[in-house]
Amino acid sequence: MTDKTIPLFKVFMADSVIGPLKEVLFSGFITQGPKVDEFEKKLSEFIGNTHVVTVNSGTSALHLALDLAEVGPGDEVVTTPMTCTATNWPILAHGARIVWADVDPDTGNIDPLSIKKRLTKKTKAIMAVDWGGYPCDIDRIRFYAGKIPIIEDAAHAFGAMYKGNKVGNTADFTCFSFQAIKHLTTADGGALVVRNSTHQKKAVLLRYFGIDRKKRSKDYRIEKDICDWGYKFHMNDVNATIGIENLKHTSEILQKHRNNAKYYIRQFKNLGNVTLMREDEGYLSSYWLFTMKVKNVTKFMDYMKSNSVMASQVHRRNDTHPVTRAFRRNDIPGVEEFSRHMVCIPVGWWVSKTDREYIAKLVKNYQ
Ligand SMILES: Cc1ncc(COP(=O)(O)O)c(C=O)c1O
Repeated sequence: MTDKTIPLFKVFMADSVIGPLKEVLFSGFITQGPKVDEFEKKLSEFIGNTHVVTVNSGTSALHLALDLAEVGPGDEVVTTPMTCTATNWPILAHGARIVWADVDPDTGNIDPLSIKKRLTKKTKAIMAVDWGGYPCDIDRIRFYAGKIPIIEDAAHAFGAMYKGNKVGNTADFTCFSFQAIKHLTTADGGALVVRNSTHQKKAVLLRYFGIDRKKRSKDYRIEKDICDWGYKFHMNDVNATIGIENLKHTSEILQKHRNNAKYYIRQFKNLGNVTLMREDEGYLSSYWLFTMKVKNVTKFMDYMKSNSVMASQVHRRNDTHPVTRAFRRNDIPGVEEFSRHMVCIPVGWWVSKTDREYIAKLVKNYQ
């Protein structure tokens, strides 16, 4: 690859971050405070849900969600292998058993019918990942899950829409990541979005040693009457300041991802050498990734690389790692197909019109 390689990911940082960040850095108060409150308020407005709890990573949000779903040793969590390890390792950390469901090979998302087949009396939660930003069919998952809590890992899907609502309004627990290369970055950070104030209050305690930092005693170091333990997962004012400034640009960033994706879809519609993902009515992806399927992924990636475009599978299926050996199964043909043929090409805000025309031409000429 040359210096001019078109990257698959890029960090977005608003110029306006510098001023407020400098102010916070030298204010003498850099941990969780007013900036976190302000960021949570702005996130609530963006998502359309007041029950937002920020944390220090998307992974931390997933840990909190599993705790709120009361997942513990011996319980089963039905989940997808087609994701980042961050989705599934917290299940193991809770001492629970992973039960792999199949994915729809045309979207990469967990297949609701496969979830139905995996449910047992021990199922304590369902984990649904919005692959590349395309929302899972939470309504259909709910139909089969009944009262079993649904955790939506929306690390890729900030700003995505499901049936007229932003993702973050349908599942019991939605987890977002604001890690470096996401649509919205705080450098590192995340948010858990819940559906009621009971869960919100619990999450606030659980993210910081069982203490609500807004209601702390006068002596900051001597806390009284802590009823339950908690992690140290809270967001700080430094990260929140970056988030506040970057959030001002998120709608525009999403639009650029969507425009590029729409362009590719138009260009690749009738190609024989690549297959597009299915998109149903009522779903609007955030297109953190532009995923498509090709026959030979290695050959395609090498071809793109030799033409200065980065292409990647981004995540390796989680069920083939030695750490998950105990949960392996052979009846997930959707995962087999998707993991063998999917590949992602640059689609984000940094991909100019000239870049996307160049990429589309390359894809069309690929044999
Ligand atoms: C699907 C998915 N879930 C969870 C995470 C974890 O997020 P974080 O890196 O903020 O902990 C990621 C990270 O990229 C991810 O891709």
